[in-house]
Amino acid sequence: MTNKFIKDRIRFVKKQTEPKRYLSSFDSRTTAHVFTDVLVIGSGVAGLSAAIQAAKHHAVLVTTKERVDENNTAYAQGGVAVVLSAGDTASKHIKDTLDAGQGLCDAAIVKAFVHEGPKRVNELIRWGASFDKEDDQLIFTQEGGHHFPRIIHAQGDSTGKEIEHTLVKVAKENKNIKIFEHTFVIDLITEDGVCHGAIAWHAKKGKMLIWAKQTILATGGCGQVYRETTNPDVATGDGLAMAYRAGATLQDMEFVQFHPTTLYIAGAVRFLITETVRGEGGILRNKRGDRFMPKYHPQAELAPRDVVSQSILKEMQKTDHTYVYIDIRHIPKERLYARFPKIREICASFGIDIAKDLIPVRPSAHYMIGGVKVNRFSRTTIRQLYACGEVACTGMHGANRLGSNSLLEGLVAGTIAGADASKSIERAKRQLFPSPTQELTGGSKISWLDLNDIGNSLKSLMWRDAGIERDEKHLLEAEEMIEMWCSYVLDKEFANPVGWELQNMLLVSRLIVVSARNRKESRGVHHRSDYPKTDNIRWKKHVTIKRTKS
Ligand code: FUM
Repeated sequence: MTNKFIKDRIRFVKKQTEPKRYLSSFDSRTTAHVFTDVLVIGSGVAGLSAAIQAAKHHAVLVTTKERVDENNTAYAQGGVAVVLSAGDTASKHIKDTLDAGQGLCDAAIVKAFVHEGPKRVNELIRWGASFDKEDDQLIFTQEGGHHFPRIIHAQGDSTGKEIEHTLVKVAKENKNIKIFEHTFVIDLITEDGVCHGAIAWHAKKGKMLIWAKQTILATGGCGQVYRETTNPDVATGDGLAMAYRAGATLQDMEFVQFHPTTLYIAGAVRFLITETVRGEGGILRNKRGDRFMPKYHPQAELAPRDVVSQSILKEMQKTDHTYVYIDIRHIPKERLYARFPKIREICASFGIDIAKDLIPVRPSAHYMIGGVKVNRFSRTTIRQLYACGEVACTGMHGANRLGSNSLLEGLVAGTIAGADASKSIERAKRQLFPSPTQELTGGSKISWLDLNDIGNSLKSLMWRDAGIERDEKHLLEAEEMIEMWCSYVLDKEFANPVGWELQNMLLVSRLIVVSARNRKESRGVHHRSDYPKTDNIRWKKHVTIKRTKS
């Protein structure tokens, strides 16, 4: 319940204060300049796929705010969904993807990406990626919503790490690719609706203006806006926020996917218990030890994620318990240990033997299905700006993403972005020593802010009011609170990523909440208890959002 002080305070806050265009001041006469043909912001599967493709003909600079291999891709466990096994067909994969997307997938994109998948995966294998095999044949497993075992995996439950490792190796060997690690991109530089690169910051080198003929945003998602998330610390929605500030159209920001099963032990990181655990026969049990999924969906534990997450929530409420369990004790120990070595290791560090004990799990925020709206060439609504991977909304996932379709999308859409940026480069304009001098004020009174406190309050609020189950009252309260925090955080000028990330998280949270309030129905991962039905008459459409002043 919003208290009176906050209600009064909100009256003084102008509704929907738009953020400043740039988070940081800069002066092109005094800031260091860097030039490249293609700038790729982000080094996960989509960013590196784009970079490798563009580097066939052009100079590419990849920036990443941490180490090159610290991103969501590297933490992906389950695998890549791809049509490579005997008996599987592209039309079966397309149908499963469209069914899960509940009317909001772009069918042409789904078709194109599914058909392109085998080519991209075979390329990765040629580059050295080693997927798990038996008798020299790839092993396929299943995940929720897939009606066929079509998920390939690596080192059991470390598929993302293997893919990331392979792409980093290929990128580092390429003379046309430079990688700037620990380089935080603050904002995209735009003039008259055209992107010319970005302003970035490095702890030792300070600010730099990176001028590029084409810019590709591949910054990943925003799971960190939620208290409970599988995402690493870097997933603060920077790319979504900077695209919004630059005037790009974003789409479907209400569709936040919650993964049904993350390890739930006080003090433990919310480590993903991959859906392939259920694909291998894992059973969900409530506090009383009862299996419950068959009563919610004919595919039981392998129902689509939205169904499993919501069913777990219901069981938690019914049994008045903060988690449920995954039970894999019936699977032979040797098989379990070989198939899920990382999960075994993490659970063991908390005294859980996955072959003997139940694993406590509950849902948490996992993937942003919406994002920067792009067309089939990965082009955004801003000229010379592309987006790919989790930061983008291609239409592949609709209202609900199938497990392991995101690594597939990252590989395919990243390659498309790199190829198209490369092809369009001759037509691109690059500003040479342009005018931008952005002076900001508002740095005062920063010392009065406790950024950690605001960040933690935001995460709790988002989890409570804009989580798996939503309604008007809670969404409105969340919007008002975020609006109030925005009113005294977004106007400040910070000097390092701690402040910029918080500003990005506030902005992205606001976009999620506003979009979620807007969609007055339940569809896919967006579940409203006050509008529990899917409304195909009024809501079989996308929700787009764009800043109102430039
Ligand atoms: O459960 C998992 O391994 C997650 C896969 C995915 O989100 O694609």
